[in-house]
Amino acid sequence: MELVWTPVAPGVWRAQVGKPDGPTLLSAAHDVPRVDALKEMGSQSPSMPFELKTVAGEVADEFTSARIPLGPEEHLYGLGLQMHGSNRRGEVYHLRVDHYASGHDRLHAPVPLYVSSKGYAVFFNTSRPITVYAGVGNRRDAKNPAARDRNTDPKWDAQPPADAVEASVHGPGMEIYLFAGPTPLEAVERYNLLCGGGALPPRWALGFWHRTPSLDTAEDVQKEVAEFEKRGYPIDVLGLEPGWQSKSYPCTFDWSKDRFPDPRDFVSKLKSKNVHVNLWSNPYVSEASPIYKALEPNYGSHMVWLGPAPDLMVPHAAKVIGDFFTKTHLDIGVSGYKIDEIDGFDNWLWPDHATFPSGLSGVRMRQIYGLLWQKELDEIYRKQDRRTFGLVRGSNGGGSRFPFALYSDTYDHREYITGMVSTGLAGVLWCAEARDAANGEEWVRRMQTAAVSHIAQLNAWASGTKPWSFAGYEDSVRSAMLFRTRLVPYLYTAFAQYHYQGTPVIRPMSLVDGGEETDQYLLGDELLVTPMLTGQKSRKVRLPKGDWYDFDSGVRVGNGTTIEITPALDKIPVYVRAGALIPVLSGKVLNSTLTPDSELEIRHYGTEAGHGWLYEDDGETFAYEKGSFVLQKLASDAPSGSTFAGSISAAKGHYADGFKHITWKHVGP
Ligand code: GAL
Repeated sequence: MELVWTPVAPGVWRAQVGKPDGPTLLSAAHDVPRVDALKEMGSQSPSMPFELKTVAGEVADEFTSARIPLGPEEHLYGLGLQMHGSNRRGEVYHLRVDHYASGHDRLHAPVPLYVSSKGYAVFFNTSRPITVYAGVGNRRDAKNPAARDRNTDPKWDAQPPADAVEASVHGPGMEIYLFAGPTPLEAVERYNLLCGGGALPPRWALGFWHRTPSLDTAEDVQKEVAEFEKRGYPIDVLGLEPGWQSKSYPCTFDWSKDRFPDPRDFVSKLKSKNVHVNLWSNPYVSEASPIYKALEPNYGSHMVWLGPAPDLMVPHAAKVIGDFFTKTHLDIGVSGYKIDEIDGFDNWLWPDHATFPSGLSGVRMRQIYGLLWQKELDEIYRKQDRRTFGLVRGSNGGGSRFPFALYSDTYDHREYITGMVSTGLAGVLWCAEARDAANGEEWVRRMQTAAVSHIAQLNAWASGTKPWSFAGYEDSVRSAMLFRTRLVPYLYTAFAQYHYQGTPVIRPMSLVDGGEETDQYLLGDELLVTPMLTGQKSRKVRLPKGDWYDFDSGVRVGNGTTIEITPALDKIPVYVRAGALIPVLSGKVLNSTLTPDSELEIRHYGTEAGHGWLYEDDGETFAYEKGSFVLQKLASDAPSGSTFAGSISAAKGHYADGFKHITWKHVGP
């Protein structure tokens, strides 16, 4: 069946196969496309590398399927948070939210979006689990290679190349979106803008997060924060784990009177130190919860840990939760949530055939449950004109605008980095948390990786590990945490770019220059990050074209070559593009909160004239949506020796309360 394509914005088209039913990913997330930003992306008419009419759709028996042409040389990237590999071509992907997908990666965010090396992207907008045959499968009416004789022909191929990507759902229909490039990066930007633009976190969310042991009391936590201060470790967010609730698994969502007798006082004491409180919860409601009865009859048919799951598609259920969370948490100053176990697998989540009052089956509810919770929590903060940032263990397509990062109970260091890199192709964020380590060396490398993740977190809920737990390694860990905290102005600017232009903060090399590495990435426009794994003494770094400089020393390391590095234990290998101007916090830094005395240092690298950006707003509210922000262009001369002149000019917006103390520094030998 030939499809009818409707232009949504320049370079974005939508078509429908069959009759899509129920919520789609985009409608569950309530996304509103950023049409203005999509229009701004380029005046030329972006086009697809194939004719739209060559995309086919079919509804037959229980399946709705689509078939999108694929060239012989194309590589395919994306398909959600993936812990392994880069080129997805040649595999079948069952995209279904599943914490322990057997034999596959953990599918915390199985976003049905793929990006082609030819510079376009395809998104299947459906809340049904979807199977994507990424260049697998030979139809009779396709352009197939000639069959070979396995007995005699050594070139016989168990999987003859296919000339299409096929995707199918069990159901009466689905929507398809196409995004033009011309580069893969621009295609991803268009997708993120269709989803409302990337999340703009409050500035504090970019500092360091620490989660205390589950059964800690208010007093224990206060002591721990004081210890951070005394020992000079920065902290911005303090996360409480299940023990803050009077009962958990299933949850009451209410404070434990024993461990937190005066929650308001607890939160405000931390606030006075600029430490923000984040609360763990899962969505399953205890009979002892004050809202257990009010949520009746809006529960699904099955329970999880003997607590029913509220149906957030029902406005009444959303309101009961929103009102209770607002009164019990937001109104006393809590800054956000970690929504756990929303991605379960059949053994401990509801079965596929579970029923929900809104009419959705269990399998469809599981696909969107993470989106529904993110939307709910984002909205209650929005009503108070406060930005939140939280963690969520399951998400899906359409979620780019939600201020939440994903995490996992897995702990393979290499997988964490690949996962982080893959999120740049999926419109989701990733927290490569540190939890524990077998020795000091591992602890340092884990904390360094956390420091260059979207969200930098130590999650000590079970281990009780502190940044200073390994004798002899305390300084190296402190320096990773301070590196992260000092980088906040640069990171905040990169997140603004994600929000306004849809450009991912962490960019896989496939989006940078078509590289396939999964252990290095660009962080924002100017930094190449190459984290060291536990036990690794040396590693290879592929430098994209252009001169690159070591972040700390300013020494030139190469241009378009692959180098072998052997960094000392306390070093995070980060390289800066020639001529980049990197805004960082200098002077004494306790956390990311700005005071009238905060100092900004603009670091210049290389021998040429400098360029860069600095985004500023109040860091807390939605005033930026009404124009209260400033995007500033940083420019400098080429340095003569270490002397050079720099200037800052407003390129967009207005905001007066920015940095008052600014210094410029050429970083070089
Ligand atoms: C896990 C979660 C951990 C921690 C724990 C608390 O499911 O992934 O990070 O929050 O629950 O019980």
